Amino acid sequence: MVSFTFGLPGRSIVAELRKAGTVVVQTVTSADEARRAAEIGVDAVIVQASAAGGHSATFTPAHPPGAVALPELITRVRGAVPLPVIAAGGLAGPADVADVLAAGAEAAMVGTALLRTDESGASAPHKAALTDPAFDTTVITRAFTGRPARALRNHFVERYDRVAPVGYPALHHLTGRLRRAATAAGDTRLIHLWAGTGHRHARTEPAARTFARLAGRL
Ligand SMILES: Cc1cc2nc3c(=O)[nH]c(=O)nc-3n(C[C@H](O)[C@H](O)[C@H](O)COP(=O)(O)O)c2cc1C
Repeated sequence: MVSFTFGLPGRSIVAELRKAGTVVVQTVTSADEARRAAEIGVDAVIVQASAAGGHSATFTPAHPPGAVALPELITRVRGAVPLPVIAAGGLAGPADVADVLAAGAEAAMVGTALLRTDESGASAPHKAALTDPAFDTTVITRAFTGRPARALRNHFVERYDRVAPVGYPALHHLTGRLRRAATAAGDTRLIHLWAGTGHRHARTEPAARTFARLAGRL
């Protein structure tokens, strides 16, 4: 499986991948983006709500999509395209997963729920911040990379959110060394602390246990 985000690949790339036996998936954030993905022949769409941690997959970073609850977004996408739907964004517990499956998704996908697991490569300060009561808000900001992404609100966001231009990946590279140094120093004021709205529910446990819990099997 190959998945694309931040925009569409060329139609010929999708055709070549599929010819090689690869399942091609496109992340979308609206019914319109889903229609455009269907037009280039992808096999399935990941429907990402704005509650998601990390970068928004939006095709229009200067005008990111507004907040729409994931089940509602799935309904809109299902009404627009006949493709299988993988639901992502803000899924924090088994009830959230059950809701998106009931709304018509074939599968659910998580990112934030895995960030504190034993297998996660997230940095120690990032893992700790996700459940630190001092971090009580997530925001969508261009401050770190020039592309909208949901992160814990920290000093860097407060200082630069208002002035950050649309400019991915230039801003990503510009701030990269600073963020790496901040991570090495454990300075959470300056790190990009990617987090979806469900970050408080992220647990330190084997990832298999997280999946079993979210699937309602524990
Ligand atoms: C730390 C982090 C890194 C991510 N990296 C990618 C990535 O490289 N490619 C991608 O398509 N999505 C990436 N995502 C987005 C996830 O695939 C997914 O849309 C999102 O995590 C779902 O929302 P949730 O975090 O609330 O579960 C990332 C998410 C996080 C939190």
